[in-house]
Amino acid sequence: MVRLTIDERELQAEEGATIFSVARDNNIYIPALCSNEAVAPYGACRLCLVEISSNGRRKLVASCLYPVEEGLVVKTNSERIVNNRRMIMELLLARCPNNKTIQDLARQLGIGETSFKLEDNQCILCALCVRACQEVVDVNAISLVNRGINREVAAPFYEPSDACIGCGSCAYICPVDAINFEDIGDTRYIKWPTSSMEFKLKKCKTCGNYWAPEKQLDYIIKKSNLAPNAFDNCPDCRD
Ligand code: SF4
Ligand code: FES
Repeated sequence: MVRLTIDERELQAEEGATIFSVARDNNIYIPALCSNEAVAPYGACRLCLVEISSNGRRKLVASCLYPVEEGLVVKTNSERIVNNRRMIMELLLARCPNNKTIQDLARQLGIGETSFKLEDNQCILCALCVRACQEVVDVNAISLVNRGINREVAAPFYEPSDACIGCGSCAYICPVDAINFEDIGDTRYIKWPTSSMEFKLKKCKTCGNYWAPEKQLDYIIKKSNLAPNAFDNCPDCRD
């Protein structure tokens, strides 16, 4: 265990934990958009900046990446942090001015409008969808492509990805609802910022409801070595 101070609270934490996770576990709020416990930290949004003092030096770090250390002193709301966070929030608001989550968070941080040039994106390039696809589903159907202002989430070569199993994990994890999916009749429709795909849903042998993408079920059967008929029935109709 290491001892540290966050906002003048003396805390103990497991070695290797990040400042962000220790703050969260102790009900200390740090704004964040690209952090999710299901995937490894990535440090994309920079909203989680905190100020640390260690060995007489002070600096700003991304709390979701920075591991705690003995004697660390952390401030989550100094004037320097607030100013930096406001600037980051203004940039995000300029990138996605019509996104409700961004608007709400900006308001919460005291930002009414942005002084940067307005764009019209929904995606903040946090890569949570890409990381969930790679690390949780183990599929790699999407990635961040291109550089600079052309950076975006896309399937390889902008083609509907054969690898995608239609599980919708990317939509569930997206913090700003930039990915949507909907099941209508026997089809699941997934819409990413730059593309869309359709997936045939499996029909339950007992109740007749369409309940999950056939590709996703085939993937689970293969990966877990289940019997080919393991998903003939939906969860409600299984013994
Ligand atoms: S689509 Fe959503 S989860 Fe994916 S990078 Fe953009 S904002 Fe993040
Ligand atoms: S939550 Fe730390 S950089 Fe986004």
